[in-house]
Amino acid sequence: MRAIVLKRFNTNDAKKAFVLEERPIPEPQAHEVCIHAEGFGLNFADVMARQGLYQDCPDLPTVIGYEVVGKIHKVGKDVKHLKEGQRVVALTRFGGYAEYAVTQAEAAAVIPEDMDMGIATALATQYITAYHCAEDSVRLHPGDHVLIQAAAGGVGTALVQYAKHKGCIVYGTAGSEKKLEYLREQGVDFPINYRTTDFYQYIKEKRGNVGLDVVFDCLGGSEMKKGVKLLATGGKIVFYGAASRSGAKWGLFSTLNLAAGFGVYSPIPFVQNSKGMVGVNMLRIADRRPDKIQYCLKNVIRLTQEGIFKPVVGGRFSYKELDKAHMFLQSRQSIGKVAVSWAD
Ligand SMILES: NC(=O)c1ccc[n+]([C@@H]2O[C@H](COP(=O)([O-])OP(=O)(O)OC[C@H]3O[C@@H](n4cnc5c(N)ncnc54)[C@H](OP(=O)(O)O)[C@@H]3O)[C@@H](O)[C@H]2O)c1
Repeated sequence: MRAIVLKRFNTNDAKKAFVLEERPIPEPQAHEVCIHAEGFGLNFADVMARQGLYQDCPDLPTVIGYEVVGKIHKVGKDVKHLKEGQRVVALTRFGGYAEYAVTQAEAAAVIPEDMDMGIATALATQYITAYHCAEDSVRLHPGDHVLIQAAAGGVGTALVQYAKHKGCIVYGTAGSEKKLEYLREQGVDFPINYRTTDFYQYIKEKRGNVGLDVVFDCLGGSEMKKGVKLLATGGKIVFYGAASRSGAKWGLFSTLNLAAGFGVYSPIPFVQNSKGMVGVNMLRIADRRPDKIQYCLKNVIRLTQEGIFKPVVGGRFSYKELDKAHMFLQSRQSIGKVAVSWAD
């Protein structure tokens, strides 16, 4: 089978990082399935991994990739709820940039035959992350004022759609006028171009001292600290990424800078003001509670079939153009999902 191997870290030239290789088809363990993939999705964590900034990335050379869409090729002997030939979307714990990928059976869910491959890839990591953040980490109520950082991205789009479905008032940040237009189309009430407007001052002016009910932060550092300062009494911040670390030049300096930016928090004001801070790492959840991944996958598929989730595929690439797909996601121009196909 073909697999695209991450051979060396490279920040600004993905072409130098990946090599297409022939590898043996992997065998599923007792609780696993092996999927013959039509394609796979990119996630921002892939960009961070290629840049050498992703803590959980296995040692090189390795095949990264968090999700595949395709037909089940083989099931492990203890797998009961899936069978060969079914079309599935699956979360992979790396190994996704390959024509055949193995994963825990609970990390795969059946999808309709006619579901678009790109849309299906969006449902895996990005939509389940959003669903977990907005259903498990917090509970959204009608009328909640909610800030979503990087709102035009993959996870961001899913969070916007879910928050609007729940009747929330949404503030969404993005880095270009094209993305702001997209956010308006998605129903974001207050799109904020952070390149021209300080989101903290903007929300302060809108909300006075009342603040926000929920903040979804994937930027980290000082942006997250501003999010904490914007929380209303009873408000919660969900922290699930550190995109602001991407592309940083000086390794240790940047890491220390990011860490300093977060700030240090005492639990006392959190108790006094009923505030909360929740961290999310879907990989660790997949390791410890794969049933929660199955639960999220089934729900995002259902919500998509009901028309509540409408994944947007902002970039479609062939496996031969993986470098271009990576640089597109890194460029901050992508909207929604970036998907890669194995079709020749
Ligand atoms: N914890 C988890 O389990 C988990 C799971 C999935 C994703 N995530 C995190 O969620 C975030 C979104 O992931 P995604 O796959 O959906 O990606 P994405 O949002 O589609 O793409 C990343 C976006 O982040 C914004 N950004 C902000 N600072 C950036 C920087 N320094 N360099 C590049 N982009 C920057 C850019 O949008 P603007 O320029 O418009 O702001 C960019 O388009 C990432 O931080 C990712 O690591 C976490």
